[in-house]
Amino acid sequence: MRRVNGTALVMAALVATIGALAFPVWSYADRSGTGQANLAAGTVNTAWGPLTAQDRDLIVRVRLAGLWELPAGQQALERAPSEAIKEVADHLIVGHTDLDKRVRIVAAQLGVELPNQPNELQQGWLKEMTAATGADYEKKFVNLLRAAHGTIFPAIGAVRNSTRNTLVRQLASDANQTVLDHITVLEKTGLVDFDAIANTAANGATASPTGPPAPVPGQVAPSAPPAQATGDVTTTSQPSPGEPGTVNTSRPDPVDSQGVLN
Ligand SMILES: [Fe+2]
Repeated sequence: MRRVNGTALVMAALVATIGALAFPVWSYADRSGTGQANLAAGTVNTAWGPLTAQDRDLIVRVRLAGLWELPAGQQALERAPSEAIKEVADHLIVGHTDLDKRVRIVAAQLGVELPNQPNELQQGWLKEMTAATGADYEKKFVNLLRAAHGTIFPAIGAVRNSTRNTLVRQLASDANQTVLDHITVLEKTGLVDFDAIANTAANGATASPTGPPAPVPGQVAPSAPPAQATGDVTTTSQPSPGEPGTVNTSRPDPVDSQGVLN
């Protein structure tokens, strides 16, 4: 009798255990694949707020950007075919040396492992640049870099918008400024193929274009009255940190209280 009771107890315990394990799977089954489930899946808590998979992706991408743009910039500075290319190279080296310091400090604080080599795609771009000469080199240098910056620019904006982690938010702000600066100096060379960029963007889009109607030739658009504050309003800020066409890159060195950079 005692033995039967013991077996029944074990069976009951087994059923309860399997049930307990199965319940969360069953109850969450219909939620998997949703944005909320995806957000929760890769998120860990840190002293600076939740850290998502998207946050970690940006950290790694900022590091990767430096790993290929620094050698690309150095090569361009050594070849220096024109003053405009030399200026780009200077900005790439200065910007990514600074960003790399920041990303190494942030990654150490958040426990994110960083790559130490450019990815395959980036290595391919470096090889393409190295193989090119003359005007072809200049065109390749500018357009490969401009395309890469155009890809990371909206990704930075997306993370900057949605992150709940204060370190990632600041890194996104800093990276945004550096990327905009690099885009600006690349475009200053006059070698950017904007048609190619527009075509690449259009090929990746599936939705039909929306927006205001195209202007009608010969028809003058109605004048737009100013949109502005009314009444007696006192303001002190400036709309932009510098002249249009320039990006303020004079931020101070990052604070490295943990000695990550030593
Ligand atoms: Fe860059």
